[in-house]
Amino acid sequence: MSDTPRLPVLVTGGAGYIGSHTAVALYEAGFLPVLLDNLHNSSLQAVEGVKTLCEADVPFAQVDVCDREALSSVFEQHSSEDAPFAGILHFAAHKAVGESVAHPAMYASNNVGGLGTLLEVAESHGVRNVVFSSSCTVYGEPETVPVNEDAPFQHAESPYGWTKQASERVLADHAATHPAHRVALLRYFNPVGAHPSAAIGELPLGVPNNLVPFLTQAAAGIRGALTVFGGDYPTADGTCIRDYLHVMDLAEAHVSALQWCLAQDSEAHVVRAFNLGTGQGASVLEVIEAFERATGETVPHTMGDRRAGDVMAIWADPSRAEKELGWSAKRSLETSMADAWRWQQALKTR
Ligand code: NAD
Ligand code: UFG
Repeated sequence: MSDTPRLPVLVTGGAGYIGSHTAVALYEAGFLPVLLDNLHNSSLQAVEGVKTLCEADVPFAQVDVCDREALSSVFEQHSSEDAPFAGILHFAAHKAVGESVAHPAMYASNNVGGLGTLLEVAESHGVRNVVFSSSCTVYGEPETVPVNEDAPFQHAESPYGWTKQASERVLADHAATHPAHRVALLRYFNPVGAHPSAAIGELPLGVPNNLVPFLTQAAAGIRGALTVFGGDYPTADGTCIRDYLHVMDLAEAHVSALQWCLAQDSEAHVVRAFNLGTGQGASVLEVIEAFERATGETVPHTMGDRRAGDVMAIWADPSRAEKELGWSAKRSLETSMADAWRWQQALKTR
């Protein structure tokens, strides 16, 4: 390792699922991730996992991004005029679609309000690079698949989806009023899996809403059978199709996006959206089969009704990310499933 000091990077939501994996990828790439999280949907266990994997005392602040004073003090403590944060990776947000329908104002104030506060504080500390966690939710039910970044936004199906559309707009408008601001809007498809060490992974609270955490818990006998939501869609096997990408591939995409921000030499502002997916769709039944192939375990499952609000089929055209960020997903669905299972088994022993 060279003696060049590591550039500090603020990682909001750094104790969360994607933020913690990205912190490890950032450290491996030579940056110093500074983790910030209010632990609303995470625990210190993830922070400890990051420190273990980095073999370093990675800084962590238990702070809410909506708390302007506390946020400012993190900037003051970990960055300076001479060495501002090289960028902000902004993961901190509420992310449960169903909860957002029940509590739209909470989603607006945390996801959009939190972003506004963060941008104001960042501005006063001279930070110009932002990598934002957006979602393929912004596309709604796309007219054609694979979907590319020029596809129009559809009416947001949920307040959560609206917060991602609104946040993209806030970021674009903010950058447009400031020269040399660089913003990467990362539209994730479906992140799954865990770090192969099983030191960090997804920690859903209560009954998981998402497919893979439910599937691994069903295979482990913690839950009853997995319900496949809808077997009568006009797809090859009747079940919904998504683009599942390994969380470490997604983590590495953030490093590429930050490096892309740092490489822009224009004095004009730059705002660019990137789809992050594998480019391959997999049906719910194909995910179950991939899990069974990868682990030798059986997933008890039954066919159920469609889930309200589900898009039938969506997968990414990730060619822009490949061309402009030099990133593409490398890990297979089987690898994702094997890593998700290893993490599920590690959880049992904790
Ligand atoms: P997560 O819940 O595991 O992580 C988000 C973290 O942000 C949590 O640790 C939570 O405690 C923290 N947080 C929330 N509000 C905060 C606040 N006001 N101040 C400080 N910390 C706060 O979720 P994740 O899956 O890691 O998602 C990260 C980001 O990616 C989110 O913005 C989410 O909307 C987006 N995203 C996730 C998915 C997915 O399927 N997981 C898909 C698309 C987009
Ligand atoms: N599914 C089941 N049974 C379950 C859970 C899910 O059949 O118990 C199916 C769903 O119907 C869907 C697929 O598995 O067809 C994937 O569902 P997830 O809930 O795992 O993921 P979604 O595609 O619905 O949404 C996720 C996140 C959103 C994010 C979106 C796009 O929950 O926050 O990916 O990135 F915005």
